[in-house]
Amino acid sequence: MAFIEINGGNQLSGEVNIQGSKNAVLPILAATVLVNGIIKLNNCPKILDVFHMIKILEAIGCTASWDNSSLIIDATRLNTSTVPEEYVKMMRSSIILMGALLGRTHSVTITYPGGCTIGARPIDFHLSAFQNMNVLLKEEDGLIKCSTDGVKGNDIFLKFPSVGATENIILAGVLADGKTGIINAAREPEITELCKFLNAAGARITGAGTERIEIMGVDYLHPMEYTACSDRIVAGTYLAAVAGAGGEAVLTGIGDENLKAVIKVLREMGCSIVSGEDYIIIASSGRAKPIPFIRTMPYPEFPTDMQSQIMSVLMTATGTSKIVEEIFEGRYQNVKEQIKFGADIRVKGREAIINGVPSLTGCEVFASELRGGAALVIAGLMAKGKTTLYNPYFIQRGYEDICRDLNQLGADIRMVT
Ligand code: EPZ
Repeated sequence: MAFIEINGGNQLSGEVNIQGSKNAVLPILAATVLVNGIIKLNNCPKILDVFHMIKILEAIGCTASWDNSSLIIDATRLNTSTVPEEYVKMMRSSIILMGALLGRTHSVTITYPGGCTIGARPIDFHLSAFQNMNVLLKEEDGLIKCSTDGVKGNDIFLKFPSVGATENIILAGVLADGKTGIINAAREPEITELCKFLNAAGARITGAGTERIEIMGVDYLHPMEYTACSDRIVAGTYLAAVAGAGGEAVLTGIGDENLKAVIKVLREMGCSIVSGEDYIIIASSGRAKPIPFIRTMPYPEFPTDMQSQIMSVLMTATGTSKIVEEIFEGRYQNVKEQIKFGADIRVKGREAIINGVPSLTGCEVFASELRGGAALVIAGLMAKGKTTLYNPYFIQRGYEDICRDLNQLGADIRMVT
């Protein structure tokens, strides 16, 4: 059984280049299904979730090959619209294939993706949107069978600016008949990235990054090459690692544009941060100031995907902090592992109160989801002594090689297989 071993308590220093964005490339890989030809996706991260998506695309008739960090997908010979169950269970975000398969083949059969540690993660917004786009849904034996004689554009109001639902509606609308308007659309940078990719392939989408997105259906998308943006959450994770362990770091290949809410909180914690278009430099004493109130909200507010990592940093702050997790009801599952380091954290519903302690002690902990696992790595870097982190698989779903990257920042961390 693989595990990560960390000898913590040292300051960090060094430079690290940030990988391509997981949450940008997953919907883009789904979008390749809409193209009757070859797509070359540059700066694609070599992470487990991408490997899973490749398996799904190959299972439905696409071909995939790597050229260094470029992934080449050819969906010409797509031969089914049934997404294999074993992969949906393995990666719930494969649900993003629904819109693309409906657009390309006018049908899709997929099992209900389960929830996960961080929440129930229903897909009701996705399904009701498809029904408003001339799609018939049948649910039997845990399968969702969708069919249409043609996706029709429509105005779709989202009760909540769901990232996945916004992406699925866009993917269904790109080749639809007529115009689709999404009201209360998600504004995350990954939505903007998907729309940039689709427009570069011939789609006609406006309003990306705002709460109203319009998609004018076109007849086809053409083959092309695209370079994915860097991962803002991976960058935020490494900034938090320096904030917690102390020291300084230069992050390259990413700018501050999509990290303003995170940088604001890190500065309030006492970090000094200088940033530009494609670099971020951070310096920290390793003893954060407490933050009286942080609430996770849809973009551009503070991202839920950075909540656990910031909580780790606040575990040794010079006072009491409060976090409110508004997006995923299960994100505090990770707190029981963070407490093993000697942290003082009290959870009540959506609220977590963190009373900073003078120091943390290395221990044995278990990751149960992606960002919580990354938060445990940060705590291990902050803690005196040795930390052993089991179930690193969860972290490898979104981080190409967290040990390699943190070694470049001077951390004493290694994967033991
Ligand atoms: C995306 O998940 C990301 N995943 C998540 O990142 C991220 O945390 C989340 O957006 C919020 O930013 C990918 O992009 C692959 P949502 P998604 O639909 O699309 C509720 C990571 O660590 N909801 O915006 O599933 C839902 O339960 C992952 O990289 C419904 O009720 O998020 C949640 O409470 C974790 N019905 C809220 O909306 C629906 O039909 C936000 O979910 C859909 C969502």
